[in-house]
Amino acid sequence: MDIVIGSDHAGFDLKEACREHLEKSAGGRVEDAGVFSRDSADYPKVAHQMALAVAGGAYARGILICGTGLGMSIAANRHKGVRAALCHNLYTCRMSRLHNDANILVMGGRVIGVGIALEMVDLFLSTDFEGGRHLTRVDQIDAGC
Ligand code: RB5
Repeated sequence: MDIVIGSDHAGFDLKEACREHLEKSAGGRVEDAGVFSRDSADYPKVAHQMALAVAGGAYARGILICGTGLGMSIAANRHKGVRAALCHNLYTCRMSRLHNDANILVMGGRVIGVGIALEMVDLFLSTDFEGGRHLTRVDQIDAGC
């Protein structure tokens, strides 16, 4: 599975930890969409760039990290076909895949620790969508009804 990961300055340290973890454990390509330093950066630019890449099918999943996760999730979810899930624990992370078929995991670098983040990354990538009635509901998201 090809994965893209990105952050702003507030998510940089956690993004680096997740990227290094993915490079050791993920089967497919791991693309780093930046940022590449702790210098102040605008989260919407990274979120929109990644959302377009995931919605367009270039990557199966994305991971976005800012300070709270809020700005990244708000911006990414502006794009049709993107289901960006801001998760703080393993339960919401698992459910984001099972029920919402989330294709971008969003985390807050100032909110969660690296241990839970790495577990969430693994869970997000290994949990399949349940489909069925949840597929009907996910389809309704883009239909706008
Ligand atoms: C940066 O200070 C912070 O506002 C940003 O990382 C994010 O938390 C926005 O939602």
